[in-house]
Formats: sequence, C-alpha cells, structure tokens
Amino acid sequence: MSTKDDTPKGMRKGLTSYGDAGFSLFLRKAFIKGMGYSDAALDRPIIGIIDTGSDYNACHGNMADLVEAAKRGVMLAGGLPIPFPTISIHESFSHPTSMYLRNLMAIDTEEMIRAQPMDAVVMIGGCDKTVPAQLMGAASANLPAIQLVTGPMRTGSHRGEKVGACTDCRRFWGRYRAGEIDNQEITEVNDQLVPGTGTCGVMGTASTMALVTEALGMMAPGGACAPAVSADRRRIAERSGELAVQMAAAGLTPDKIMTEAAFENALAVLLAVGGSTNAIIHLTAVAGRMGIKIDLDKFDALGRKIPVLVDLKPSGTQYMEDLHAAGGLVTVLRELREHLNLDCLTVTGRTLGEEIDDAPAGFAQNVVSNREAPLFAEGGMAVLRGNLAPRGAIIKQSAANPDLMVHRGRAVVFNSIEDLTRRVDLPELDVTKDDILVLQNAGPKGAPGMPEAGYMPIPRKLAEQGVKDMVRISDARMSGTASGTIILHVTPEAASGGPLALVRDGDEIELNVPDRAITLHVSEDVLAERRAELSVPVHPNSDRGYRKLFLETVTEADFGCDFDFLVPAQQATGQADG
Ligand code: FES
Repeated sequence: MSTKDDTPKGMRKGLTSYGDAGFSLFLRKAFIKGMGYSDAALDRPIIGIIDTGSDYNACHGNMADLVEAAKRGVMLAGGLPIPFPTISIHESFSHPTSMYLRNLMAIDTEEMIRAQPMDAVVMIGGCDKTVPAQLMGAASANLPAIQLVTGPMRTGSHRGEKVGACTDCRRFWGRYRAGEIDNQEITEVNDQLVPGTGTCGVMGTASTMALVTEALGMMAPGGACAPAVSADRRRIAERSGELAVQMAAAGLTPDKIMTEAAFENALAVLLAVGGSTNAIIHLTAVAGRMGIKIDLDKFDALGRKIPVLVDLKPSGTQYMEDLHAAGGLVTVLRELREHLNLDCLTVTGRTLGEEIDDAPAGFAQNVVSNREAPLFAEGGMAVLRGNLAPRGAIIKQSAANPDLMVHRGRAVVFNSIEDLTRRVDLPELDVTKDDILVLQNAGPKGAPGMPEAGYMPIPRKLAEQGVKDMVRISDARMSGTASGTIILHVTPEAASGGPLALVRDGDEIELNVPDRAITLHVSEDVLAERRAELSVPVHPNSDRGYRKLFLETVTEADFGCDFDFLVPAQQATGQADG
C-alpha cells in the first residue's frame, strides 16, 4: 500500500468546479501565467499573504513594506508567495463601529483562505479588530497560518511631552472639554498624537492582541512589539514568510497550536500586561471557533494570582516602543513562567518553553516589573457578577480609580448612545460626582455592534469642576487606550431584556470590585413590574443585508460576539438569545 500523501498541494488545491479537474488546473495555470509565472515557480509550495492595506487605514500604512519582506522570506525558504487582499478595518473609519465589521472580515479571511490555492498563509493585520478577525478565520479554515502585525507607531512630542495614540488623545480631549486647554493647543496636539504609521502605541487593543497572539503561539517569537517603522519589523515579516513555508511542509495547522492550554497562556499574558478589555471578547471568539469556551470565572481566578507587570499606558506610563526596547514579550513571559503551559506548540514547531529558553538573555530595564514589585497587585481585569450582570461584566481595575472600587451611588440613566450624546452636557442634568452613569442599549444588538461607548464622558458641568472619573456602567465596550472606573460588557445586554434595561434614574447601585459584585438595590417585585412594562425594543431587527445577518445571529460578550452559525454547534447553544 502506498504511503504517499495524495492531498492536492499548491496550484492543485481547491480547483474551480468545471467537472474536469485536468481542465481546471490547465485553465488556472494559463491565467496565472498571464502574470509571467513559470511552471517551476508554480510547482513550489504556495504561501498566501493577506494584504490589508487601505488608504483609510494608517495603522496598516507600512503594509507594502511588510508584504515585500514576507515575500522575501517565503522565497528564501523555497516557496512561492502570492499576496491577496481582504477587507481592512480601521477604528476611526468604521461606522457604526469596527466591532460591527469584525465578523465580516473573519468570514472574508476564512473563505478566501479556503477558496484560493495555498499551502499556508501569512496574515498581516494590526488595527484592533483585524487580528482577531484573521485568527477567527484561520481557526475555522484550519490551514497552516501565521499572524504578522504591522506593529506599533512611534511616539510624538507635544510641547516637550511624549504623546501617542490614544490614551493621550482622550486625556487631551478631556482637558479641552474641561476648558483647561484652548482651541490652538488642541489643534497642535492633534498633529502629534499619530506621528506616523502603525498601531496605537499604548496598551490598547492592537498592542494587547499582538502580545496575546504571540503568547498563543500564532506569531513569530518576538513579533509583537517591534515598531511599525523599524528594521526589526521588516525582519519579523521576513521570518514570518520563512516560517509559513516550514509550517506548510510540517502541516502545522492552527488546531495544533491554539489549544485550551495555549489560550490559558494568552489569558495570563492579557492579565499581566494590563491589556485591553476588548481582548477578552476577541479571545473568547477565537477560542469559540476551536470549540473552546473561555470561562470568565476561571479568568477572574487567574487574575487574583497574576499581577500587572507592564508599565504601559493606560495602566502605567510608557509606550510599546519602550516595551520593545525592554526585550518585548519574552521579558514578560520569563516573569510569568510558573503560570504558563510551556509545552504548547508555536508557529516555529517548537514549544513556548523552548522559545523562552532560547530568547536573548534578559537585562535590566524599567518597563516590565518583577512579580515581587508589580505595577498592580492583581491582573488587569476583574469579572463582576450580580443581579445587574447575571452572566458577567468586566472592569479594567488596573486603569480604574482606587477610591471608587467600592462605591454606592444613585443611577443617572441614558437609554441609548443618542440619548447620552443629547443630554450628558446639559446644565440641567441632575448629576453629581458620586452618581453612577448608566448607559443602556449599547451592546452587540442594541447599538448595534457594541461600540466603544462605555467610556462615557464626564458631564461637562462636573468636568469643569475638576471631576476626572465616575463609576460608569454599560453593555458597551471601551477602547483599550481608555481608563476610568468603567464597568463594561454587562451581560445579558439591555436590548436582549437584561436587567440593565430595568435601571431607572435614582436607583441605588453598588459596586464592590474586591468582592466582584455589582448590585442593583431594587426589589425583585419592582424589577418584575418594570420588566412587564419594558419599552425598549427587545432584539431589534433590520430588513436586509449584513445588518439583518448581524442582528439575527450575533452573540453576546460572553460568547465573543461571534455569529452563532460560525462557531461549532456545541458552542452556539443558547447564546444568541441570551
Ligand atoms: Fe488602529 Fe488604534 S486606531 S490600532
């Protein structure tokens, strides 16, 4: 019996259906030869390279350089690189919110990996939703895949102060709203916040996803932190191309790398870097594609053991270029070693433990603390539960106000993002600094798309009095670059009839982060009456198109906001309807 692997490879994979395989290959080669390829080139292993460059996307502004470097790596290793496009998503150019489009990009990625002939794929993403979308697509396509990120932008300088997107964007805008800086200064700083191409330079979602993806094993070691505009970033791209050829030969598919243990590593890193709250949703979605459920209670328990070690904004003071100079992720991994599953495979075909052991030696630096003197004693995030969030809510405790971690206050309720925009700055708004701002109907279905509206502005009249933070609660998300005592991802969401929809002005709400509790102090009888009179639309819908698909199938934060039909059947059960 022959042991030869007869699985079609390279150009022979996934032939177009004409009912005659020989003719399909003949025609395919005729067309690609129109671009000058020889038979010898077309016989090599084919490595697709996903190009997500777009003139709308400054975070991917170095895409052409990275594609070239990745192609070089593929060819050096004996493969044939074929770049191809998928959609590109930039945070500030996506209406109503980039999250609305993440699953669309995941579908695009999965189906184009499947549809076109390739033996492995280098996925180049960077801006917040692009990396999770690519990982979700790769997980479902299950072709050897390696993630390459565009890398963080460098910092700018404003009147002698180092600045960078986007924690400083929010800080300066807050000062402008409070009347502390004038029109001229806000215009000046606007020129400096994004001083070049690359992803946001703080521990926002892009940086977080880059780090957790490296920890997951899906990225070339050392690939998370190098600045977008650096020789290191191009070398990582070259290395990624080379690794993709090796992965194709070895059949190193995502299911061998993205195991439950690998996700535990990613979650440990997420906690230790003080990462973006968005990353817990994205990791849940990627894991969901592999049939793995991220357990929020286990995540919270892990957070009691793993402190925040990385001094990056918004939890700390520095930027990604500083973490790169401090050795990058491996400096964090060394500190976390006892909490990691070191046997997990990575894209190199070696284990995470082997990669840590073989990384350049550590050195004295001031970005990653050791475990004895952490930046924050617990992990960056905590999971809250209570009658207001029966299936959970998240707070980024490392970027919150310690004085508000135990707080009881009166609710000031906004029933939509539009309502918030309309009323938050009105002088007659009945609000004090001790109140709790509540935003309803800003979740996956409610907004729709679960925008980053959880970072509600401090009402102008309070901002002008110097109030910098208040407890804020919503079913929305928050940018990873933002900070404050902000409770997010309340689940079930208001638009699915969750208890958040039942909060009314003047209700007492109690937050107790040490006890992981969020409580609405209203009797069950009163809540039942309110539920019966609920006037908000439950499960809004739309007549057609992507919006209809989104509203009918999007799941909630605890299931990663994926579409229910994209996850394995056992994961989808019961999630879409809360
Ligand atoms: Fe693209 Fe921040 S806007 S990473």
